Amino acid sequence: MAGDESLKPEQALGVTRRQFLGTAVASGAALLVGKSDVIFGADSTTASKMASNPTFALGGDLTVNRLGFGAMRITGEGIWGWPPDRQNALKVLRRAVDLGVNLIDTADAYGPDTSELLIAEALHPYPKGLVIATKGGLTRPGPRDWVPNCRPEHLKQALEGSLKRLRLDRIDLYQLHTVDRKVPLEASVGALKEMQDAGKIRHVGLSNVSVDEIERARKIVPVVSVQNRYNIEDRKTEKTLAYCEKEKLGFLPWFPIGGGRGLKPENPLEKAAKDHGVSAVQVAIAWLLERSPVMLPIPGTSSVPHLEENIAAAKLILTPEEWKAIDALAS
Ligand SMILES: NC(=O)c1ccc[n+]([C@@H]2O[C@H](COP(=O)([O-])OP(=O)(O)OC[C@H]3O[C@@H](n4cnc5c(N)ncnc54)[C@H](OP(=O)(O)O)[C@@H]3O)[C@@H](O)[C@H]2O)c1
Repeated sequence: MAGDESLKPEQALGVTRRQFLGTAVASGAALLVGKSDVIFGADSTTASKMASNPTFALGGDLTVNRLGFGAMRITGEGIWGWPPDRQNALKVLRRAVDLGVNLIDTADAYGPDTSELLIAEALHPYPKGLVIATKGGLTRPGPRDWVPNCRPEHLKQALEGSLKRLRLDRIDLYQLHTVDRKVPLEASVGALKEMQDAGKIRHVGLSNVSVDEIERARKIVPVVSVQNRYNIEDRKTEKTLAYCEKEKLGFLPWFPIGGGRGLKPENPLEKAAKDHGVSAVQVAIAWLLERSPVMLPIPGTSSVPHLEENIAAAKLILTPEEWKAIDALAS
C-alpha cells in the first residue's frame, strides 16, 4: 500500500457503520416488489448506469450481477468462530442466491474458515453461474485480530484450504487479501500466478492496494478486480477506482454501507431516502451502483431482512440531481 491510498483491512469495523445507519429511515424492503424474488435486471427505460450496466464481466468472461453479498458478517462476534444462530446464517446465504445474487465475497480469515464452510453447507452443489470470490493473505491470531502473511508458501496452503472448505477444484476469483510489508508484492502475486497456471485459480484479484501496487502486480499476473474500502463518505481510494474504471477491472468496495461519519441530521442521503420511501442504506448502495459501471458492492449482513433491503437497492434509481447532491456529501 502506498501514499494516501493506504488502508487498514478489516479494522475499526462497526463504529462508523452505526453512525451511518443512524440515518436510516422508512421501509425495510420497500423496493421488493413484483411477483419474482429476483431483483436484478433493472428497468431499461431509465438512463442510469445501473439500468444500462446491471452486470459486469470479471476478466471479460465471468458475468455477475453488480450487487453482490459479503459473507464476513455471517460468522461469530469479532468475525470469529461460528455465528450464534447457524441456521440463520445458512438462510441468509440461500436467500441471497434466491434474490439473484451471484457474487459472494468471503475469505479464509473470516471465522477463520467458518464463512467458507457455511457457504458450502448452504449452497453446495452450487447453482450455475454463482461466483465465490475468496481471499488469502491475512491470518487470525484471535477475535478482531488480523495479521498479514503473504509469503508464497502460506498463500499456497491457504488456497488449498479454501478449495477444500468450499468443495471446489478451482476458485473463480482468488484475491490477495492485503499487501504484506514483510514480503515483496511480486513474490506474493507470483504464488497466485503459479496456482493459476496449475488450474486452481480462474481469475486473480487484489485487495487493499494502491494504483502503483496494481500496476506492479499486473506485470506478473493478469488482475481482474480490486477490493478496497470505499463508500459515500470514505473515498480515499478514488484514484484506484478511476484506474479500475479505465482498465475495466471490477472494483469491490468493502465497508460499502459503513460510512456516514459526520453526516448532518438533514443531508441529501436522508432526503433522497425520504423522497423514495426507502432507507438511507438503500440510497447509499444505489449511489455506489451509479458511481461507476465497474462498481461491485458487497454489503454484508447476518440478517435476512437487512439482506432483502440491501439487495432491493439495485432497483432504486436516483435522479441525476439527487445523485449529484449525495455525491457532494463527500466532496
Ligand atoms: N478486503 C477487505 O479487507 C475487507 C474488509 C472488510 C470487509 N470486506 C468484505 O466486504 C464486505 C462488506 O463489508 P462489511 O460487512 O464490513 O461492511 P458493510 O457491508 O458496510 O456493513 C455491514 C454491517 O452493516 C449492518 N447492516 C447491513 N445491512 C443493513 C441494513 N440494511 N440496515 C442496518 N444495518 C445493516 C450489518 O449488521 P447486521 O448483520 O445486523 O445486518 C453489518 O454489521 C464484508 O462482508 C467482506 O466480504 C473486505
